[in-house]
Amino acid sequence: MKRLEGKRVLFIGGITNIGAAGVEAIIREGARVAVADINEETGRESVKPYGDAARFFPLDVTREDDVAAFVAAAAEWLGGIDGLCQNAGYLRAGPVDTFAAHEWDMVYAVNVRAQFFGVKYAVPHMKRAGKGSIVNMSSLAGKHGGPGRAAYSSAKAAVIGMGNSLASELAPFNIRVNTLCPGWIDTPFNRPAIDFIGGDGAVEDMVKATVPMGRQGTPQEVAPVYVYLLSDESSYVTSQALIIDGGSYS
Ligand SMILES: NC(=O)c1ccc[n+]([C@@H]2O[C@H](COP(=O)([O-])OP(=O)(O)OC[C@H]3O[C@@H](n4cnc5c(N)ncnc54)[C@H](O)[C@@H]3O)[C@@H](O)[C@H]2O)c1
Repeated sequence: MKRLEGKRVLFIGGITNIGAAGVEAIIREGARVAVADINEETGRESVKPYGDAARFFPLDVTREDDVAAFVAAAAEWLGGIDGLCQNAGYLRAGPVDTFAAHEWDMVYAVNVRAQFFGVKYAVPHMKRAGKGSIVNMSSLAGKHGGPGRAAYSSAKAAVIGMGNSLASELAPFNIRVNTLCPGWIDTPFNRPAIDFIGGDGAVEDMVKATVPMGRQGTPQEVAPVYVYLLSDESSYVTSQALIIDGGSYS
């Protein structure tokens, strides 16, 4: 028996890097997955290898009505919802004295507000089913800040706070809420932060100095945590912010 056999999962932001690795691992363990992302072309390609186990839904998570419509369409296709993974993210870095308000708002809209919408619309389905697992994406940046990242770090800290609150509200309904906090994972997503710090060489030096394992992580090293938190193996695990960072934070 596979670890996620029969599970019906919504995965928002699941077409590249950490999200793509998560979707691949979840499907390998027997789940069917409704994958959503704003990048329609890559999204449609990304689900092709999975046949009937995955379907792509174009979605801009900043629009509440569109999140509601995605959750409804995905639940209809899957016949219910057992798991919700929210991995869409948006990073901008820059000096505080020139950081634009519209960038601050977009960082919060994608990283925080959208995850609230996803939970808001998925939870009624989970309540009807009498169980569910929600996995939201924060970052090690939500635990401690970094230069040029006041917007991103504070948004990711908000995701942790939101998860703790939701976990206590939803525990009586047997719905678990956990949050992922990866450290430096080697994907193009970090480019704005890398440029602010001083380029690839500066980041590699920093990683060697601050990460006990001495290297960045890979998307494939985050994916198994998604599988664990969606599975019944983690049935007593909720309200956690799980750090996946090679040991740099303790
Ligand atoms: N790479 C890292 O070091 C790292 C570390 C900690 C946390 N994270 C988080 O992991 C998640 C995935 O990061 P990644 O490195 O795989 O990058 P990625 O760029 O591959 O993933 C981000 C995804 O979010 C989607 N997205 C952005 N705006 C959207 C919108 N408005 N509506 C719908 N989808 C939207 C993008 O199209 C993309 O598919 C992000 O939430 C990021 O904050 C990454």
